[in-house]
Amino acid sequence: MTLNDKIYKWLDDRFKLSELLPPIVKHPAPLNVVSNPLYCLGGTAFLCFLILVITGIFLAMYYKPTPAEAYKSVEHIMTAVPMGSLIRSVHHWAANTMIAAVMLHMMRIYFMGAYKKPRELNWVVGISLLLITTTFGFSGYLLPWDQLAFWATKIGTGIAGSIPVIGGYISLILVGGNDIGAETLTRFFAIHVMILPIAIATLLGLHFMMVRIQGISGRL
Ligand code: HEM
Repeated sequence: MTLNDKIYKWLDDRFKLSELLPPIVKHPAPLNVVSNPLYCLGGTAFLCFLILVITGIFLAMYYKPTPAEAYKSVEHIMTAVPMGSLIRSVHHWAANTMIAAVMLHMMRIYFMGAYKKPRELNWVVGISLLLITTTFGFSGYLLPWDQLAFWATKIGTGIAGSIPVIGGYISLILVGGNDIGAETLTRFFAIHVMILPIAIATLLGLHFMMVRIQGISGRL
């Protein structure tokens, strides 16, 4: 018996893996999925998300969300932290790639009609995932606290503020006062590293559960 077999048996005796795993891993996929790379776009978005979580945790170890220290802490990450510039760049590019992958994934769903019955609810969950993904990008943009970040946020919160009736409240909640400042930075940080990760993890769980229950669209 190899070491792998021994480990598997040890786990199997305790968690009944041989009963639990087959229905999860032995699942027929439609033939068109296996041969068509367009079906990899959702998985690509998820891979980007995992990379963002890992690199984001490392960035959070050095980043300081105060107006006096935010810019300096990013500079410190870029110049003094070992592999800091690599980790920040990977975070940046994974974020851009995730947005592109989610948009293309949505187009694949739309043009292939994969949103139709019984997958309507998964389309709705998907739209929420798209909103969360773009809000991740928007909230992360302010964190370096440079001129580009400041003015992009000024414009973004201004657009949110121009929504009829509720715009004023949304802008107040986001900005935390009359102008972009310390309150805005801590709010965006909390949104970026706490609220959105919890929201996206919950919705991804729902999204994948529905894909599993309903199966991927297409002929088996
Ligand atoms: C964080 C963003 C998202 C991730 C990680 C994700 C991930 C996935 C994965 C891995 C699949 C399996 C099949 C495939 O990859 O094509 C899938 C299927 C699906 N996704 Fe997404 N998705 C995301 C966003 C969206 C969006 C924005 C929509 C639409 C508005 C959407 C709607 C759907 C639907 C309807 C299916 C079932 C497709 C079928 O059965 O052919 N998803 N998603």
